[in-house]
Amino acid sequence: MAKRIPQDFIDELMNRVDIVEVIDTRVPLKKAGREYQACCPFHNEKTPSFTVSPAKQFYHCFGCGAHGTALGFLMEYEHLSFPEAVEALAHTVGLEVPRQDDGRGPRPAKQGEDLYALMGRCDEFYRQQLRQHPAAGRAVDYLKARGVSGEIAAEYGMGFAPPGWDNLLGAITAGEAPAEALRERLITAGMVIRKDEKRCYDRFRERIMFPIRDRRGRTIAFGGRIIDEGEPKYLNSPETPIFHKGRELYGLYEATRALRKIERLLVVEGYMDVVALAQFGVRYAVATLGTATTREHLTRLFRLTPEVVFCFDGDRAGRDAAWRALQNALPVMQEGFEIRFLFLPEGEDPDSYIRHEGREAFETAVGEARPLSEYFFDHLQAGLDMDSLEGRGRLVKLARPLLQQLPEGVFRQMMVDRLARLSGTAAAGLLTGAGSRPQTRPEGRAPGARRAASHAGPAPGAGPRTPVRAAIQALLARPELAARAGDPARFAHLDIAGVPLLVSLLETLQGNPELSPGALLERYRDDPHARHLSRLLEAATPLGEAELEADFLGSLGWLENEELKRLQERLLARGEHQLTPALLKLCKPVDSLSSEEKAALKQLFNEQAG
Ligand code: CTP
Ligand code: MN
Repeated sequence: MAKRIPQDFIDELMNRVDIVEVIDTRVPLKKAGREYQACCPFHNEKTPSFTVSPAKQFYHCFGCGAHGTALGFLMEYEHLSFPEAVEALAHTVGLEVPRQDDGRGPRPAKQGEDLYALMGRCDEFYRQQLRQHPAAGRAVDYLKARGVSGEIAAEYGMGFAPPGWDNLLGAITAGEAPAEALRERLITAGMVIRKDEKRCYDRFRERIMFPIRDRRGRTIAFGGRIIDEGEPKYLNSPETPIFHKGRELYGLYEATRALRKIERLLVVEGYMDVVALAQFGVRYAVATLGTATTREHLTRLFRLTPEVVFCFDGDRAGRDAAWRALQNALPVMQEGFEIRFLFLPEGEDPDSYIRHEGREAFETAVGEARPLSEYFFDHLQAGLDMDSLEGRGRLVKLARPLLQQLPEGVFRQMMVDRLARLSGTAAAGLLTGAGSRPQTRPEGRAPGARRAASHAGPAPGAGPRTPVRAAIQALLARPELAARAGDPARFAHLDIAGVPLLVSLLETLQGNPELSPGALLERYRDDPHARHLSRLLEAATPLGEAELEADFLGSLGWLENEELKRLQERLLARGEHQLTPALLKLCKPVDSLSSEEKAALKQLFNEQAG
């Protein structure tokens, strides 16, 4: 929750660093033509498909699909958060990271910092109580009975909340003035509950405490388990300024600490599952906190590893949770990411299973977990008569809206092909429901499309090379071209794919002519367009400066014509009988309009708009 890093600074930083240098000090690169290559650090390979482009200030692996800027690389490679990566990169070029208040709410940054310290003190208190409190014997015995060693308990920071209403409250506020302010902080932190005007009490009483830590190891919340039997079995911290259930995963910090290289992460349901697995040497398990797995969880996990295995109980609730997890996973399923599902036998959870069967059997089961694609189609086909036309039609109907959520790319295409095979239909148009309708392309002379024929063609997922795409690719390679585009707003209302992104890029670049390609990409880090941008950058064929310029200006010319055609349509929509011969003349094919006529056509609508 640090203060925001000003955008100007990130621009400046991206302009100063060289991605080749940043990567080369970590993964030695070899020059190959205009680019640099190495074996990909993000997946196992023998021949190099990891490519770094100094011109684009971008890296891309053709094997696993990993890609990004210098900042992105540091985040992936060193498992850093965005601010941490900025910090690290700034250090290498001798810049100091300035901070600014983001103006949202009453200084949330400062508030956050205090809460971390406060939670640290609570954490310390509970651990001390586990060692010292006279009533802690029951907790220790319980943990022993469940096979948890002192070592693992210490590693996960387990503690004990003693019986009584105000142990934590008393311990934290003792000797501190003013106690009232501190009490308020404890309430904000979710550790204390207000009873009435005067009285407060500890949320966690007579429970075994599991600290929930963020990626940096700071305690941000707790889960508390009752000793032996009782209700509720688990009690969790509420959402607080520093704790959001949908984002955090229990055990993730501990896993990253225990492992040098994370080959896969296992998502289980319970705190005790994570701890028991660790006890048996399986250090890559994490748990959601009594919630479904969110997209944000998955994005986090995939930052650390290419493979995520979900482990669910074999009962009804487990199967429902698995399907929910699958649905949330679809939008983040890029090439190179793998998700698999492990269903345990009915009545077992990971904790009991590894105790009964041992580590080897458990890890074998993990290794044999079902790929998402298999589980997806099996689940949908269950109960359908796949020998009948109706059954196969129903499968298409069920699968279509789900597959549409997959990002465009190889994986999506493979899933569509599979659906086509299973349903006995053609893959083309399966997702749009339009049969084998040909791809819609804008008509007219398309400077980008013309070239596509002579090159090897665009990379998978980039789609046909339309003029709009060509213009964006040219801008990414040579941002200074934006200055030649005139006012981008004139294209804004054109209903053509990619135009909103192009307009946004032009506006950004015209307002910030200094931006390098890398800085430009960083500006779009949290933008919904970010994915398209990286795709287009990957798919761009290396063109010379002159070619890029010709492409860009040609594309703008094409857009200009599209704009004129729309104006003509509006003119004609008034009805020909209302048009003077002079106006009718403006409606001939755009290619044959003189520049005066073009200007007149625009003028006609400008006046009306004004
Ligand atoms: N949970 C919860 N509140 C409950 C029960 C469960 O928040 N009343 C969450 C906890 O995160 C818990 C997870 O759901 O770890 C799984 O619950 P369950 O399977 O019932 O517990 P186990 O993890 O198996 O716990 P134990 O083995 O200690 O019984
Ligand atoms: Mn259990």
